[in-house]
Amino acid sequence: MPGDNEAGDKRDNSMSANDETIKIHRGLNGVYFERSAVSSIDGRAGELRYRGYSIHDLAEHSSFEEVCYLLMRGELPMRTEFDAFNASLVDARQLPQSVFDVIESLASAHPMEVLRSAMSALGAFDPEVDDNSPEATLRKGIRITAQTPAIVAAHHRIRQGLAPVEPRDDLPHAANFLYMLKDEAPSDDAAALMDTDMVLHAEHGTNASSFTARVVAATGANLHASLTAAVAALSGPAHGGAAENVMIMAQEIGDPANAAAYVKSKRKNREPIMGFGHRVYRAEDPRARHMRAGVEKLSLEMGEPKWFEILKAVEIAMQPYARLGVNVNVDFYAGVVYFLHGIPQDLFVPIFAVGRIPGWVVQVLEQYANNILIRPLTVYDGPEPRDYVPIDERVPQ
Ligand SMILES: CC(C)(COP(=O)(O)OP(=O)(O)OC[C@H]1O[C@@H](n2cnc3c(N)ncnc32)[C@H](O)[C@@H]1OP(=O)(O)O)[C@@H](O)C(=O)NCCC(=O)NCCS
Repeated sequence: MPGDNEAGDKRDNSMSANDETIKIHRGLNGVYFERSAVSSIDGRAGELRYRGYSIHDLAEHSSFEEVCYLLMRGELPMRTEFDAFNASLVDARQLPQSVFDVIESLASAHPMEVLRSAMSALGAFDPEVDDNSPEATLRKGIRITAQTPAIVAAHHRIRQGLAPVEPRDDLPHAANFLYMLKDEAPSDDAAALMDTDMVLHAEHGTNASSFTARVVAATGANLHASLTAAVAALSGPAHGGAAENVMIMAQEIGDPANAAAYVKSKRKNREPIMGFGHRVYRAEDPRARHMRAGVEKLSLEMGEPKWFEILKAVEIAMQPYARLGVNVNVDFYAGVVYFLHGIPQDLFVPIFAVGRIPGWVVQVLEQYANNILIRPLTVYDGPEPRDYVPIDERVPQ
């Protein structure tokens, strides 16, 4: 385990680029900056646990609501605890009218732009917005978890010229989300697969968006501000955008027979294959197997085996890269699940966000509980010190 360095590194940016004692960790790769009791990842073994519980057990036996409780409260709930927690999630599904107005005014923007703006607006209308106590942060976390699917679904309806769908109190979180998107109750299988998807995405250590949430929270900013920043970080293609890009790739490939040539030409140009590779996992991402199994079942049931076959062919073509630690990640199969559900591609990242809310909330809770400003250093390698020259005396360089 890395040692603590409470005092921190007191060197500043005046250190020059050629100081041999400085080691720069670009991308903070391999750097430990904090302790966390939320999730553990063994990248070599391909293992992920939430609070000690294997992701496989949770994906197979738990539910998104129960995983939220586990992440936010630290233990699996007893029945009465679960019922009370679930009731608070269900009660918080409504959005303030002013947030609908924000969504409406941004209707033509990308759903992640809308989610980021609506998340920020939610803060403006939350009665406890600036109370950063653990109790209030948890209450706000529950509210945001319940409200985020409502934002994504309402925007999707509004941009089609349709009225937002009222949430249904009798449906679980994932099923209600699909219901609000389509105004139609999902099949049990579709709801179960979306629930599993959300369990798998709920938490993943200090990935870019969770780290962003912590950096913002560490300044003393509130939960809504932290999660608004996390949504922004998630919107990039190297993070949340992969599922969308995998589906675009599958459509470009068009037929399993073209997969090997596609991979070859991409790698010739040193372009990444979407849905492969991970900063932490060197073995297969443990979440991928649950999505793979779901896609196989769903695509056969729907009489559309083509997408699963294309992805399988890409996996086979990518086998030589496994020895470099480049394997399938969770997003490789997730996109096809959404696609087969008739969900448009620009909603893939927002769906990831809907699932990730509890992870962000609990990372912020941990940051507040033992806070320290997060402020790394850069080594200065710009111009040498020089004198200021008044504007009329400057000569062209
Ligand atoms: C996720 C990602 C950004 C991680 O990047 P990283 O930790 O910086 O990994 P590196 O770039 O150090 O990869 C090491 C090697 O594997 C290769 N590699 C990494 N991801 C690859 C991919 N998706 N396809 C092909 N090769 C890949 C790199 O080219 C590099 O080889 P090189 O040293 O010859 O250049 C990267 O794997 C990626 O862009 N993947 C595609 C997008 C994606 O699926 N993101 C979702 C992550 S959950």
